Amino acid sequence: MNPLKIGLFGFGCVGQGLYDILESTKTFPAEVVKICVKNANKPRPLPLSHFTWDSAEILDNPEINLVVELIDNADEAYAIVTEAMRRGKNVVTANKKMVAEHLAELVELQQEMGVSFLYEAAVCGSIPIIRNLEEYYDNELLYSVRGIFNGSTNFILTKMYNEGAAYATVLAEAQQLGFAESDPTLDVGGFDPRFKLTIATAHAYGLFLRPDEILALGIQQISAQDIRFAREKGWKIKLVAQVSKLGDDQIAAYLMPQFVAPADPLHKVDEEYNGVVVEAAFSSKQFFYGKGAGGHPTGSAVLSDISATTYGYRYGYKKRDRINGVQLTQDVVLEVYLRYTHESVLNHLKFNHIRERYYGDGLNYVIGSINLQELIRNKARLAESGASVIALG
Ligand SMILES: NC(=O)c1ccc[n+]([C@@H]2O[C@H](COP(=O)([O-])OP(=O)(O)OC[C@H]3O[C@@H](n4cnc5c(N)ncnc54)[C@H](OP(=O)(O)O)[C@@H]3O)[C@@H](O)[C@H]2O)c1
Repeated sequence: MNPLKIGLFGFGCVGQGLYDILESTKTFPAEVVKICVKNANKPRPLPLSHFTWDSAEILDNPEINLVVELIDNADEAYAIVTEAMRRGKNVVTANKKMVAEHLAELVELQQEMGVSFLYEAAVCGSIPIIRNLEEYYDNELLYSVRGIFNGSTNFILTKMYNEGAAYATVLAEAQQLGFAESDPTLDVGGFDPRFKLTIATAHAYGLFLRPDEILALGIQQISAQDIRFAREKGWKIKLVAQVSKLGDDQIAAYLMPQFVAPADPLHKVDEEYNGVVVEAAFSSKQFFYGKGAGGHPTGSAVLSDISATTYGYRYGYKKRDRINGVQLTQDVVLEVYLRYTHESVLNHLKFNHIRERYYGDGLNYVIGSINLQELIRNKARLAESGASVIALG
């Protein structure tokens, strides 16, 4: 086995978490040769001789055989990762946006260069879902993968549920506690979990989608009224990413708030935790639960990938070669709750069937079945009007 010589990009939350882990797992033969960071003036917890501000110091160094990319900018990450692979270096990354937006091309580059390109930490932090979908569920007939893929939004929804507080109040608190970014759009708008769902779909079904092919409704519209409604039914509201098999050759993928009943394993996934339920023909239902973020939990997934490069592991994307025409469909009927203020919203949305209506006390809602395509067509209208759409699980 070649000794591992690591060039680390990024020394923020995950980079430092990984460094700590490598320091405390001395049995693992790896040396961080150099750490490349961005800001020259930032104080560092290690001697400055460990750092560089010039990516070439890592990329040009033939001694470095593994690049671990943990920076917070997807475009810069893409440039680093592709250059590292072109130079014959293995790559481990946690950058879901970069992976989701360029997956097909990155896989091709990995194959062309004969290197490993691994990204377990990009989806649900410490939960080993990618390698399981790729290897363990290699031949299983998967019915669905659904889960809570974003810790910040789950933290906000849990607080709204426990305290009956308004979305804006809880968001501000989550930002103060560091559970939400100062610009929270990627999380609360559902973009971050959509990147993760895009990646999970590639490993669950072999279908490489563009993130924007998947409808993502975030949690910005969830109100205290919606939470009260859920409570009265004994449910919680969770932001759920879901991909399911429909028949032999179609899958449906979407991300939206869902009502989750106590019997659903996702019901007990609270605070910043993540959870994934995998349902398959023979193994039946299996539930993965763990920390989806944080330096050490995410660093642990990065370490697992680093270790996998030492035995030449690569994702095989075997399902991609076997999919035989499996396609994404948006022609799927969902049971949803729609809370709205302006009647015009309801008039624009063509429900297949409305089975419950409520008007009064400043709360208007309907429950009924609607085609996913209708939600996609009306996404902007729904957002502008402040209406909330929540799927019934
Ligand atoms: N945080 C989590 O819990 C978590 C969980 C799963 C996945 N991830 C993913 O892990 C990655 C890192 O996240 P993070 O939370 O650790 O970010 P972070 O705390 O914001 O740290 C980012 C680091 O990247 C460095 N950096 C930025 N641009 C750079 C460049 N062009 N060249 C070299 N270094 C650069 C920064 O340098 P300075 O130190 O000089 O500012 C900083 O050290 C992201 O892709 C994120 O999506 C994070």
